[in-house]
Amino acid sequence: MKIKVQKGKLEKFAGDLLVVNLFQGLKKTGAGTGAVNKALRGLIDKLIKEEKFNGKQGETMVVPVQRGIKAKKVLLLGMGLQKEFNAEVARKISSAAVKKARELKVKRMGTILHGAGVGGLNPQEAAQAVAEGSMLAGYTYTKYKSSKDKIQSRFPSEVVIVDHADAQKIREIISGVKQGEVYSNAAIFARDLVNEPSSNMVPKDLADIAQTIAKSSPNIEVKVYNQKEIEKMGMGAFLAVAKGSDDPPYFIHLTYKPGGKVKKVAFVGKGITFDSGGLSLKPANYMETMQLDMAGSATVLGIFHGLAKLKPNAEVHGLAAVCENMPSGHAMKPGDIVKTMNGKTIEVLNTDAEGRLTLADALSYAVKNVKPDAIVDFATLTMACVIALGEEYAGCMGNNKELMEKVKSAAENVGERVWELPMPEEYKEAIKSQVADYINTTPTRKGAGTITAGLLLQEFVGKTPWVHIDIAGPSWAEKQVIPYMPKGGTGFGVRTGLELINKLSK
Ligand code: BES
Ligand code: ZN
Ligand code: ZN
Repeated sequence: MKIKVQKGKLEKFAGDLLVVNLFQGLKKTGAGTGAVNKALRGLIDKLIKEEKFNGKQGETMVVPVQRGIKAKKVLLLGMGLQKEFNAEVARKISSAAVKKARELKVKRMGTILHGAGVGGLNPQEAAQAVAEGSMLAGYTYTKYKSSKDKIQSRFPSEVVIVDHADAQKIREIISGVKQGEVYSNAAIFARDLVNEPSSNMVPKDLADIAQTIAKSSPNIEVKVYNQKEIEKMGMGAFLAVAKGSDDPPYFIHLTYKPGGKVKKVAFVGKGITFDSGGLSLKPANYMETMQLDMAGSATVLGIFHGLAKLKPNAEVHGLAAVCENMPSGHAMKPGDIVKTMNGKTIEVLNTDAEGRLTLADALSYAVKNVKPDAIVDFATLTMACVIALGEEYAGCMGNNKELMEKVKSAAENVGERVWELPMPEEYKEAIKSQVADYINTTPTRKGAGTITAGLLLQEFVGKTPWVHIDIAGPSWAEKQVIPYMPKGGTGFGVRTGLELINKLSK
């Protein structure tokens, strides 16, 4: 889908569909929608008066056009209550418009810039939201579909923001669209990786994709470590998880360097390309979606896809320990004790708590080899997080207030929901082992599974400011709840990561 900007009057937009908007409860159209109403000789005001259209958030109504305006059809789009309007609402209603346009098989859709007038957003914010809502809602995973669904998914192929504004405002709109496109394409890139069935997305595939990203930009470099090199680095916990699989593990280290002295951030992503649970095998229904267990590393690769285009002024590292968690004659067994790269040992009580093992080594690597100013990790780590917060919220924990605030505010800006959980000292008892330094699950079944996982990760970041984001819920949509998050991989975290870097580089 292409997002374009056209300077001019809405009435003059020549295309298949023109989208205009209305706040809930208003009795009369104003501004841009008002001009279209006038050109249609009061038709929209009449529909409002007759209460045929209320303006509820995402409500749509197709208005037939005979003359007065150039577009073939007009779509009335509800913006919801004015006092509740924000960028996220702009994203959501843009999704509703695109979905309606798809239903109508519209190729070229023109739209008013939602929220830039009385909505209170600046033109840049509004344009970014429209671009993101449109592109993210327009995404469907059709790689393995027959041609009929593939063709349907191409509508609309073009969304044109039409605005009768001065050159300065147009420049701001264009800049917002550009940022929205970079953010959305990066998230879509991550969605594709997560949606690919795990047999076609083995560790080597992710490593190859990291290489391709590096080739696409002169500012990005990559080092991919193979099994022998991983052994040499002493990543015993990561290797123990990988042991059960016939597909060898890889460790990915991407680097984006703008040059000069700048802040250094490391993103770490959990990269289990399939989580069967290992010998602590998951029940069949829990395994159905476990291709999603590399979503954290997909988020990191998605961020790098975006960095290549954003070119921010910060040094960014992307790390992922990638392997499968499988049962076999070679697999790690409950009761095993593994030694991590920083020398600490972990007793493996449950082989299904594998993410914290691979992350222990990836975080140790970050601290030792990257020495970043900040670490942010994304991991589909615990079912407990989904139980606590549901599918729409990621849980986050950290050791540094300032970084946590920055992450939260970045997430808020892009409409990704994160919720901070506490890390009480007392709960550290739960990760102590009788026979090793730590244990990977608590046998006592005392709850707080997300927190105890976070507490274990904390042991591997030292004093480096760090935020852990458990994306077990929002990385995958069981069904579409948020209108621009279709079923399957969501690309959650990519836009937060890019926004964080954007803000840090200013
Ligand atoms: N990958 C899973 C967590 C998960 C579950 C992510 C559902 C997304 C959706 C993780 O490796 C896991 O299996 N965690 C266990 C830990 C337990 C054995 C302590 C869990 O949460 O049940
Ligand atoms: Zn697991
Ligand atoms: Zn897992």
